[in-house]
Amino acid sequence: MDKKQSLCCRNTNWIGKEIVFYETIDSTNNQAKRLAEEGYKNGTLIVANEQSAGKGRHGRSWESPKDTAIFMSLLLRPDIKPDNASMITLVSALAVSRAITKLTGQQALIKWPNDIVMNGKKVCGILTEMSVKSGCTDYIVVGIGINVNTEAFPEEIQNTATSLYLEIGEHVSRVELIGQVWEYFEEIYEVYLQTQDLRKFVKAYDERLVNKNQYVRVLDPQEPFEGKACGITERGALIVETEKERRLVSSGEVSVRGIYGYV
Ligand code: BTN
Repeated sequence: MDKKQSLCCRNTNWIGKEIVFYETIDSTNNQAKRLAEEGYKNGTLIVANEQSAGKGRHGRSWESPKDTAIFMSLLLRPDIKPDNASMITLVSALAVSRAITKLTGQQALIKWPNDIVMNGKKVCGILTEMSVKSGCTDYIVVGIGINVNTEAFPEEIQNTATSLYLEIGEHVSRVELIGQVWEYFEEIYEVYLQTQDLRKFVKAYDERLVNKNQYVRVLDPQEPFEGKACGITERGALIVETEKERRLVSSGEVSVRGIYGYV
């Protein structure tokens, strides 16, 4: 991947103009945060061939073996209110979904808010982290892990994880996929920055929403509940219809599960 690295983002205007590549790093998100503290610029992209301490959402770890997957984190320094930052996760999911479809010709759906799913199994996870200083957004790190050419998964996750290779039976170029993800991201993100919400993308997101019209269980630590997922709001909340009312679920720490399984 290293030789072709400079080709990664040839069709973007500002993302990935500086790419920092590591053969191995603990976590590209952690490294992006360290580089942010050192003053690296908006749009810097951190890519690794392997992570020794890959992080998932909700404090979980992220399997990060070498040579087969994408591990990357983008450093953003937007002038937005911290309350508007969680929508960037949905921007990322839409960009990854579009990029996978463009390169593989297959549907890649979104499990709200930001897992990418093919044939009911997870192919990509996204972890967005933010630093706030004096009440203002200092920087945001968007970390994306995509199972690209993985040929087998450990038994414990075989039923819920997949890779592009396992879905289409062909190897996919990691360099091309990285470039395509950021090309779509840049396009969607710039519109999001103008409106500071997702009003222009609700339809596109809902069309890819694997939970749409599915019964879900919302694992709210205070009060778990079930209902039918109907789509997202302009602020990226999931609309869930229970027997009694319509409820809005914000991303953050809440997880959503299908009643009959992962999706
Ligand atoms: C999830 O739990 O679904 C989110 C997984 C995010 C994994 C990516 S891999 C690149 C970046 N670095 C990390 O340590 N995590 C994210």
